[in-house]
Amino acid sequence: MTSLMNNTHEFPEPPPQALAVSRRLAALIRTEISAAGGSIPFSRYMELCLYAPGLGYYSGGLVKFGPRGDFVTAPEISPLFGRCLARCCSAVFEALGEGDILEFGAGSGRLAADLLGELGAQCSLPARYIILERSAVLKQRQQDLLRQRCPHLFSRVVWLENLPETGFRGVMLGNEVLDALAVERFRWNGETMELLHVGCQGEAFELRWHVVQDDALQAALQKLLDPAAVAAGYVSEFSPTLAPWLRTVADLLEQGLLLLIDYGCPRHEYYHPQRANGTLTCHYRHRWHEDVLLWPGLQDITADVDFTAVAEAAAAARLDVSGYTTQAYFLLDCGLDQFLQAAGPATMTSGLKQVQQAKTLILPGEMGERFKCIGLARGVEQPLPGFRGQDFRYRL
Ligand SMILES: C[S@@+](CC[C@H](N)C(=O)[O-])C[C@H]1O[C@@H](n2cnc3c(N)ncnc32)[C@H](O)[C@@H]1O
Repeated sequence: MTSLMNNTHEFPEPPPQALAVSRRLAALIRTEISAAGGSIPFSRYMELCLYAPGLGYYSGGLVKFGPRGDFVTAPEISPLFGRCLARCCSAVFEALGEGDILEFGAGSGRLAADLLGELGAQCSLPARYIILERSAVLKQRQQDLLRQRCPHLFSRVVWLENLPETGFRGVMLGNEVLDALAVERFRWNGETMELLHVGCQGEAFELRWHVVQDDALQAALQKLLDPAAVAAGYVSEFSPTLAPWLRTVADLLEQGLLLLIDYGCPRHEYYHPQRANGTLTCHYRHRWHEDVLLWPGLQDITADVDFTAVAEAAAAARLDVSGYTTQAYFLLDCGLDQFLQAAGPATMTSGLKQVQQAKTLILPGEMGERFKCIGLARGVEQPLPGFRGQDFRYRL
């Protein structure tokens, strides 16, 4: 995700209705803290802030994506993103004979609409386009958009709240899903590892560091980063839910590709000694900041993805890491420049706008290098479109 403005501490006050929802969520979190004996791990706090039924940032009714929301994602920036992804999907369908698409957390529904539109034009439509969406409000928004953008394909789209129970063949797709999985925050205090907890001081929340008592976790954290190489006070994150999530999804994939796109880097960069304050970030009305306790449920909380952890989890689940590259190389290998040329702008202004959008997707200072694409395959010939250009798997 990216914000439209620079960082600033002048946050527009949420409307009273939103503040009332946030207060209800805060009460629920206080109840959990009290039941847990005074504090909960940060990952549980983050999970509740994002996904508490009806109250969390993603499970509630807020506008999140686009200029009126808190951030923009690649499908919101340009339809070129979805059109490029279609090239990769159709190669998988060709290899399999046919297949479905399963998109995790489909946001506004734009990626689904762009993909279906392009796959339709290529005569390579999926039998079904399944959207796994936990938010009722987003599901409604996706239905409205897809009915309007591709009414003739609407009957192919299926919404689910949980993973399908039968095996899946085709392309599973997650754009910026991994960065929305809850993380633990940990700190090297110079002698041992500590985990961040959230407790209460009266009605207010407060952050507390607890020494990690679990020997296995203490050892695992000291393996993630070398205590001898980092200064006391070094803080970072890891996702305890990434590997279990990937395992569940991989078990479902009979044949095809799991394509994940997100911001992040390999482990040696993630836990680099100079990256001493981790990657945890909040997004609110296109401002980014670090105050995770601000207005629970009204702001996004996110962390970068450790792509080495993704590759390790994939290997444990017997998936092949079939490609790992930057978003820029992925989109260019899928023909972004050809799509741009073929579009033939109706006017000078619309042409310039398209070029500007493409630049946002691929330039190194924008999304081009910070965002990575990883392809995890089972029973599919490789390399697939997107991964034939620059292969960065050796960095994982
Ligand atoms: C940053 S948003 C990205 C939305 C959209 N993919 C886009 O690119 O605009 C993250 C999305 O991931 C979804 N998500 C997080 N964990 C998920 C899971 N386990 N299964 C399905 N969706 C999930 C969230 O509900 C949210 O809609």
